[in-house]
Amino acid sequence: MVWAFVFVLLGICSRAEGANAGLKGRVTQKGLQYGRQFSLEVLKSLLQKEHVLDLNGSYNIPLLGDVGYSVARIQIQELQLRESSVSFSEGTGIRLVVSNASILLSGAWRVTALSIPDSGSFDVRVTDLSLSTELGLSWDERSRPQVWAAYCRSSIGRLHVKFHGGASWLYNLFTGALQAPLRYEVNKQLCPELRKGIGDLEQVLKTMQVTAQLDPFVAIDYSLVNRPVIAREHGDMDLKGEFYGVGKRRGSPFSPAPFLLPEQGDRMLLLGLSELSANSAAWVYFAAGALRRNFTDSMIPKLSPFRLNTRSLGLFFPELKRLYPNMPLELHLSARKQPLLTCWPGSLDLALFGTAEAFVVLPNATLAKAFLLDLDASLAGKLHLDSAKVGGSVALRNFSMSVARPHMGSVQRKALELLLKLVLRMVVLPMANKKLKEGFPLPSIYNLSLVNPHVTINQGFVLVATDVLYKA
Ligand SMILES: *[C@@H]1O[C@H](CO)[C@@H](O)[C@H](O)[C@H]1NC(C)=O
Ligand SMILES: *[C@@H]1O[C@H](CO)[C@@H](O)[C@H](O)[C@H]1NC(C)=O
Ligand SMILES: *[C@@H]1O[C@H](CO)[C@@H](O)[C@H](O)[C@H]1NC(C)=O
Ligand SMILES: *[C@@H]1O[C@H](CO)[C@@H](O)[C@H](O)[C@H]1NC(C)=O
Ligand SMILES: *[C@@H]1O[C@H](CO)[C@@H](O)[C@H](O)[C@H]1NC(C)=O
Ligand SMILES: *[C@@H]1O[C@H](CO)[C@@H](O)[C@H](O)[C@H]1NC(C)=O
Repeated sequence: MVWAFVFVLLGICSRAEGANAGLKGRVTQKGLQYGRQFSLEVLKSLLQKEHVLDLNGSYNIPLLGDVGYSVARIQIQELQLRESSVSFSEGTGIRLVVSNASILLSGAWRVTALSIPDSGSFDVRVTDLSLSTELGLSWDERSRPQVWAAYCRSSIGRLHVKFHGGASWLYNLFTGALQAPLRYEVNKQLCPELRKGIGDLEQVLKTMQVTAQLDPFVAIDYSLVNRPVIAREHGDMDLKGEFYGVGKRRGSPFSPAPFLLPEQGDRMLLLGLSELSANSAAWVYFAAGALRRNFTDSMIPKLSPFRLNTRSLGLFFPELKRLYPNMPLELHLSARKQPLLTCWPGSLDLALFGTAEAFVVLPNATLAKAFLLDLDASLAGKLHLDSAKVGGSVALRNFSMSVARPHMGSVQRKALELLLKLVLRMVVLPMANKKLKEGFPLPSIYNLSLVNPHVTINQGFVLVATDVLYKA
């Protein structure tokens, strides 16, 4: 019972049109604006990486003649990105515009004038630099996300060169010579560097895993089911979100029904989890035979007056008590059909279909069939989500019992049903709720944590609307 509920939670712990998605994620304008600082950091690290630029040339100075110069080991020391804006580029991806940025470069210079060599170091401050770039988002033939540099243009406003070391009279002459080629060369480097960085990211995405094994039984497929949809106000990713059995890659008998995320822009991120996604997990556990458990009397709490023996249960099965007075029983509980989760506006319904087969444990340890019951329960579930964990609660909505096979005589059906219902309500569910209340920790993905997440249950899917916090 607890397991079936956990599948839903697991799905949430993990993240329109075309093929139907089991999981949908949306980044809103607010999320994109929050991500701006992060994308600037990425941009900075791309441009600030070790790359070395050498320049050679000559410059004609009256009286002195040709002055040969070489500048080497030019590196970006500091990058300041003052004004920037980020926006969705409908149909393509994300546009980032940086303006009035400045760069501090440094390098070594060497000059030969009148056959006299001289050398030193220099700093260059480049101001009024602007960069406009667009990152394209798509998917590849193996359903992984794909990125490319859709557009890039840069320009440089002013350059201030400052020399250190060497003969001072040369400095000014040299400044003029260096300004134009340096400006050209630095500008020429910016977009290719950016493209190279995006290319590296593309390589990482190419080898990205789109499945993950969660436990010995179940794995999840979170490949894309269609190209990321970039609209003016948001970007959407539709993932398969289907669970499958480890080892045997059988599709579950479910295919997600289409659902649409609501137009809601006050949170950074919207995540939609289809009920079919959770049901595919339940199906895998059921098909793998994981939803079964055996109970013996030793597992019943010591204080319980009700024991798992023919004396206690004999109240409902008079014949059993007569044939096997005071002997231990063993109960095999299993799912008869797979548990089924249904999302209705405002409520989660979990239907459980079980069988309980009881055996008398004979003195020589063989098991003699006693009876077989079908037990059906319907639970109402609630989900609670905070920044660190996901939990919930369940309440009994309905319970019914029928005797599938009484191996021994007549049964007091009504009375037994009443008792089981009581046990479910007073013992089993409080235990399950204690576990669910403690909750399950959320994994931190890319150092992002949720801020004030809000869960709502809609027709066919669970929606999580949340802000996020990035901690490097
Ligand atoms: C510039 O000249 C130096 C020494 O003359 C040489 O080592 C370097 O490769 C040259 N660089 C370029 C870009 O031509
Ligand atoms: C660019 O930044 C500098 C330094 O912060 C500032 O003085 C200048 O006004 C800015 N220029 C524009 C066009 O915003
Ligand atoms: C329950 O007991 C039966 C018979 O002893 C055994 O075949 C089965 O594997 C047991 N199931 C579990 C889940 O332990
Ligand atoms: C165990 O005892 C029962 C009845 O007492 C008998 O029918 C059965 O054959 C015995 N089984 C074994 C394995 O000895
Ligand atoms: C409870 O289950 C019984 C038997 O399946 C059904 O007849 C009854 O309508 C159910 N009651 C509710 C409130 O769902
Ligand atoms: C997450 O944070 C840790 C330290 O807090 C850091 O070492 C790691 O690189 C970060 N990972 C990502 C993906 O940002």
